[in-house]
Parts: sequence; structure tokens; C-alpha cells
Amino acid sequence: MSFMHPLPALNRLSASRPPRALRPRAGAALALGALALTTAGCSAKGADNANVIVGKQAFVAKCGSCHTLARASTKGIVGPNLDESFRVGLAEGLQRNAVRGVVEKQIQIPNPKGAMPAELAHGATLKDIATYVSQSVDRSGQDTGLLASAVEAPGAGKPAVEKGGKLQIPASPTGQLAYVTGKAIANAGPATVEMPNTSGVSHNIALEPGAHGATPGGPLLGASPFTTKGTASVSVTLKPGTYTFFCQAPGHRAAGMYGTLTVK
Ligand code: HEC
Repeated sequence: MSFMHPLPALNRLSASRPPRALRPRAGAALALGALALTTAGCSAKGADNANVIVGKQAFVAKCGSCHTLARASTKGIVGPNLDESFRVGLAEGLQRNAVRGVVEKQIQIPNPKGAMPAELAHGATLKDIATYVSQSVDRSGQDTGLLASAVEAPGAGKPAVEKGGKLQIPASPTGQLAYVTGKAIANAGPATVEMPNTSGVSHNIALEPGAHGATPGGPLLGASPFTTKGTASVSVTLKPGTYTFFCQAPGHRAAGMYGTLTVK
């Protein structure tokens, strides 16, 4: 007869099964099982000193391009949706302190064969991120106060305006799946659309005729190469009318990385 844990979720875990063999969705619960077995009785010291403002900023910059977290307004789809990862556990009585531990462990020791990079955060930043995530997962509503203004709203910058045949539409430097602006204006004729990207997240910029928003809507007019750090550009010939500019990385357009170009 095996040990019965008070949390039903943990009883479903097979102790002999290696965490990394599990599908991503189940990973957090399993990591939690390991945590409960190895660090039971560990104090939560340090959590109180965490800076959740920095934690939110760092989460958006380092994690949001791959993970959805409603409170942080991130919409990445490469990794599991973090609200969903912990929903069942929290409903079954999982403490947010324990969630913090799971998130810390995941950052420290991600699956070497998985898509999550190692060494994303250390020391205080690691704590700040884990604390912010543990306080935010599966919470409805919006961040308030200083937390609400910790990260600029994606795409809210001033419209980009073409000058001398050059139109610059930077990717959001925060790592959010957005350009700094959702609006651009250009004159008809040949133009080079440039996308400076300092975020470290791989983006490009592509154009199609028509205002299609998040939904792919037509033949491609042109697309730049992808870059994680640097400037990618594409040369196109614009006619008067409306175009959509967007990122072709999987999930980025759907997450909000697009805007409207008006050509006069
Ligand atoms: C390049 C994409 C990528 C980035 C960036 C990334 N992750 Fe992940 N993450 C993943 C993938 C993919 C998984 C699924 C399991 C695996 O491969 O290890 C994952 C798993 C997780 C899990 C476990 C969730 C579950 O349901 O099993 C947590 C927690 C997590 N990541 C937190 C973070 C945090 C916090 C950051 C930022 C410091 C981060 N991730 C950055 C891709 C990413």
C-alpha cells in the first residue's frame, strides 16, 4: 500500500515515473509531487522579500512569449498555459507557496529535451518571477495599482510614419507578442518596412492587403526574415488602401502581434 497524500492530485502521480516523460500539461502537478516529497517542511522564507513588480516585468520579458498567463496579459503558446497548469491543484487545496516552489524548480531545472531554455533567471529575479507567477496563476480579474502599470500595454505606442520610403515598426522591447504600435501610415510607392527587435524573442514582419486583424486574410505582399536581436526588413510596393502587418511566428499574430497600415 503506497503512501496516500492528502492532496488527491498527488495520489495520481506515480512516484516511479520520471517527470520528464509526462506531457507538458501534467508536468507542473508532477513537479509538485516531487517537491512535496523532497522539500516538505521547507520554510517559505524569501517570498516576502520578493518584488512582484520586477517579477511581472521579468516574466513578461523572459517567459510570456512562450506562456499564457492572464494576469500578465501574455499569450505565448509554445509552453503550457500556466493558469491551466495549476488550476486543478489550486482547486484541490494546493498552496500558492508550493506553486512558487514548482515554478522556481522549473526555471532552475527545465526539461533538457524540452523547449524551455535553461538559465532564464537566477537569484532575486528567479524569486521575483516565481512569486509573481504563484500569486497570479488562475486568478481572474486584472492586476491593480503599481502591478497594473508595471508593463506597458502592448501596441499602444504612437503610429509609425513612413519617411523617405522607410517605415520603422519595432517589435515590443518588453518581449510581449506585439509591435510597439498597432498603427502605421505610409505614402503609396516603394517602401522598406524595418522591424528593429531588441527583445530576444524571434519575430518578423509580414504584410498582406486588407485589414484582417488577428486572422490571416489574404495573399502575402512580402515578409522579412526572422530575427531575435537586430533589424529585419522587407521591401514592398504599396498602393493606396489598407494593409495588415503581422508576425509570422506561430501564435504571435493570434496573440496580438499585428497592426494596420494605412497607405495614402
Ligand atoms: C522558449 C519557450 C519557453 C520559455 C521562454 C519559457 N518556457 Fe516554461 N515551458 C516551456 C515548455 C515547452 C514547457 C513544457 C515542459 C518542458 O518542455 O519542460 C514549459 C514548462 C513550464 C512550466 C511547467 C508547467 C506545466 O504545466 O508543466 C512552468 C511553471 C514554466 N514553464 C514556467 C516558465 C517561466 C516562469 C519562464 C520564464 C522564466 C518560462 N517558463 C520560460 C517553454 C518555455
